[in-house]
Amino acid sequence: MAAPSAPRGRNGVNVMRTTTDELAAGPRTDGLPRGFLWGCSTAAYQIEGSTGADGRGTSIWDSFARRPGAVLGGMNADLACDSYRRWKEDVALLRTLGVDAYRFSIAWPRIQPTGSGSPNAAGLDWYRRLADALLEAGIEPAATLYHWDLPQPLEDAGGWPERDTAYRFADYAELVMRALGDRIKTWFSLNEPWCSSHLGYALGIHAPGRKDRSAAYRAVHHLLLAHGLAVRSCRAAAPGARIGIVINPSTPRPATRRPQDLMASSRAADERTALWLDPLYGRPYPERHLAAYPGIEMPIREGDMAIIAEKTDFLGINYYSEEAVEAVPADPGHPEGFRVAPSWREQTEMDWDIVPEGLGRQALYIAGRWPVEAIYVTENGGAFPDRAGADGRVRDRDRIGYMESHIASLAGAAARGAPVKGYFAWSLLDNFEWSHGYSKRFGLVAVDSATGERRPKDSFWFYRDLVAGFGS
Ligand code: FCB
Repeated sequence: MAAPSAPRGRNGVNVMRTTTDELAAGPRTDGLPRGFLWGCSTAAYQIEGSTGADGRGTSIWDSFARRPGAVLGGMNADLACDSYRRWKEDVALLRTLGVDAYRFSIAWPRIQPTGSGSPNAAGLDWYRRLADALLEAGIEPAATLYHWDLPQPLEDAGGWPERDTAYRFADYAELVMRALGDRIKTWFSLNEPWCSSHLGYALGIHAPGRKDRSAAYRAVHHLLLAHGLAVRSCRAAAPGARIGIVINPSTPRPATRRPQDLMASSRAADERTALWLDPLYGRPYPERHLAAYPGIEMPIREGDMAIIAEKTDFLGINYYSEEAVEAVPADPGHPEGFRVAPSWREQTEMDWDIVPEGLGRQALYIAGRWPVEAIYVTENGGAFPDRAGADGRVRDRDRIGYMESHIASLAGAAARGAPVKGYFAWSLLDNFEWSHGYSKRFGLVAVDSATGERRPKDSFWFYRDLVAGFGS
């Protein structure tokens, strides 16, 4: 290969010409494909507030937040970021940010207050207005159909462990896509179903707060069935639209190169990765994982696996962290033979290890094992202490460093062939972080909890420059 030409600079010194990418603001994004999509994500319950407005019904998170001890300090999202009323300010911020797409979620209880039946026109209208304003601003609306806010009446009837919930979701999804599919062309069926099943039904730290592992696995199957049915609905109700699911996978990271740790780490990825991707891509549920939990039975009926494997257009992955795991000898407390190894990593305020290289590793791991069409990183970001200076400016260098390093890792994976097509920052606004209430802040924009006033942090301007610089 010929050496790059080294023209003489004005002072006679040999200089290498700078490339356009080097001149563009922001970190290195070399390797990311042309047309790469930059976005920002939020979720309805975490930002909207106005939980009683315009006929909205109650969700499992409204109920859970009222249970003593469920959410830090008894906080709830009745106000959240007040985005239901201040959405025009949010769209203006997104326009300033210059993102290509905005991923928000549609609150099922606003559309069907009891979880079934005819739609609430006021709810649909609100999302129609939001989508129109985004389109008007040149931003692609990308909607999640389910980001954890199940209508309470459906939980009262048994929730996700019940098969009927999948069919209720299919009806809801079809109705929404019929009503909004003319303007919203990108759909995400479910957000992180592992959190719904495992945090919601096995560990009880998310709504509805149940602790029953076998119910959690029935929920796994019905969530996947709901997704597959929604894909079918999408093809029928919104021709030309694209749909995929969003999962929060984990990647095997052995604490050491000892063979037993290598094996342990591969098993550690079963619950959050193979349990979902195997059936989504036409394989049976991972047997070794299910076998570790006696008494668990997947309530599979004829035809279910084909519905679950209905072809999607892309896969969304949310990435925040990665854990190193090590082998443990036979121990009923660790039925799959592994545990998380002690961490020496720097962590975010969530106590999540900061492992930027894990993002690229995850994209390559998934692309190498499942026939994914395209991968979007649908969430990535960090919670940091964020103290405003005397001038009111939030100099959140730690968040900028986090994003910079993760995007560079993603670009590295793209350069090695991972089909990554976009990146969505979590999150536009500081918001209601589930069981942590408002104590953990992920926003590019600070929200004053008393006044609702929005104030961009330094990371907002960093991201704006990155988005503007890429490809210029
Ligand atoms: C993800 C959720 C999202 C947000 C981030 C921090 O698991 O999808 O709503 O809470 O974590």
